[in-house]
Amino acid sequence: MERFAIAIDGPAGAGKSTIAKLLAKRLNIIYVDTGAMYRAVALYCIENAFDYNKKEDVERALENIDIKIVYQDDNQRILLNNRDVTDLIRTGEVSKGSSAVATIYAVRIKMVELQRNIAKENSVVMDGRDIGTYVLPDANLKIFLTASVEERARRRYNELMEKGIECNLEQIKKEIEQRDKNDSSREFAPLRKADDAIEIDTTNLTIEEVVEKIIALL
Ligand code: DC
Repeated sequence: MERFAIAIDGPAGAGKSTIAKLLAKRLNIIYVDTGAMYRAVALYCIENAFDYNKKEDVERALENIDIKIVYQDDNQRILLNNRDVTDLIRTGEVSKGSSAVATIYAVRIKMVELQRNIAKENSVVMDGRDIGTYVLPDANLKIFLTASVEERARRRYNELMEKGIECNLEQIKKEIEQRDKNDSSREFAPLRKADDAIEIDTTNLTIEEVVEKIIALL
């Protein structure tokens, strides 16, 4: 079969990674989590005392950053300078930093090259913010996932509580709103629905319902 690509974009907490993972499994193709790459850049900055809010700092850091995506038992692992950081990039601080470094042109160019190379070699379900609009404009199917900010905050809250991490719903909602604003208002390749993307509001849908909708669209 010809290689094909499904692009899934949308704001933080809309369910992109959950849905994309299930889709990839159903279709027996790989899932590419592009947010993990921006997160790895942020982690490098945090660990090496570069200020992720300063363009010059991040650009200098970028020179020392090598990111690789590998697959273990069908799960994506992300390597930062050959160290597996998959489990270290899920903190609140890294979320904030990733949204900041993602506004920097040089960072995006480097990550997008990596993303396009993966899609050249494999059939993919790729999720992010600019996959349908910029990274893979010729994707076979483009989905734009949304959900109300309250629902997205609630999902994140439940996820953290299940992991035994104490958190505050209002605080999470504020952080999500801030990240939405950051991701949508940046100059280069902002979060935006592609003209030919199909929007699915997941607020009142189960995970299985969303997956079925997308399979039907395919
Ligand atoms: O999907 P995520 O929460 O792991 O993404 C982390 C940050 O990375 C997000 O706030 C914006 C940025 N990002 C991006 O700008 N473009 C992408 N394709 C994926 C993520």
